[in-house]
Amino acid sequence: MPLLLGVNIDHIATLRQARYAHAPEAHNAEPSPLEAAFDAMAGGADSLTVHVRGDRRHMQDADAFRIRAEVPLPLNFEMGVTPEMLDIARRLKPDFACLVPETRQEITTEGGLDVVARFSSTKDAVTVLTDAGIRVSLFIDPDLRQVDAAVAAGAPMIELHTGCFANALPAARSEETARLAAAAAHAHAAGLQVNAGHGINYTNIADVLTIPHLAELNIGHSIIALALRTGLTESVRRMKSLMAAYPEQP
Ligand code: PXP
Repeated sequence: MPLLLGVNIDHIATLRQARYAHAPEAHNAEPSPLEAAFDAMAGGADSLTVHVRGDRRHMQDADAFRIRAEVPLPLNFEMGVTPEMLDIARRLKPDFACLVPETRQEITTEGGLDVVARFSSTKDAVTVLTDAGIRVSLFIDPDLRQVDAAVAAGAPMIELHTGCFANALPAARSEETARLAAAAAHAHAAGLQVNAGHGINYTNIADVLTIPHLAELNIGHSIIALALRTGLTESVRRMKSLMAAYPEQP
């Protein structure tokens, strides 16, 4: 099975909101997340990720519903564990939901979900989403206790948070890669699908590809940044071609 690429297109909406936060549905509001979704698909995206945050700083509810209705790619709905988001997820019916921690001030999702500390609310959300036919992933730090809690919460997938790895200076990079590899091996042995994401770019992808048992990477910022120069279809294509070097996993 090749390593799949989920493209996070939230930052297309970030740019639109910079000008049209008061009227994201205006006829002249641009750029369009829907058009970006089609461009990503043309570049070979295997799925799309859309995060509707509680503060609606980028994607709006209408963006998620339109992309779900019109784009023939699997949709990964990134969401905080709140009654509001659970209600949206049940109506949106994405293929996947990735549960993330969310705080008002953060610039982006900063740490993994603390499944150990928030076990019962996480388990309840996994149950609600699973009952709605949505396959759930938990976005966690590469910590074996969090992996065990994800298994106990009934999630079939985890997404390993690669933020510490991406931010590490070269001297600390191999230690972070080893932590990710150990968490991936532990999760795979427990029967979980292992995804990874956050801060992955065209340079550090080489080290990411040494982590075993990966099924999917979720990448946004670096692909959107390169798209400013090459267009989104090409920036997705370039990431996919780098990912093609990932060895077949046992
Ligand atoms: N995965 C999750 C759970 C995220 O929260 C994010 C950032 O929104 C990403 C992946 C993508 O991270 P980046 O934009 O740094 O590639």
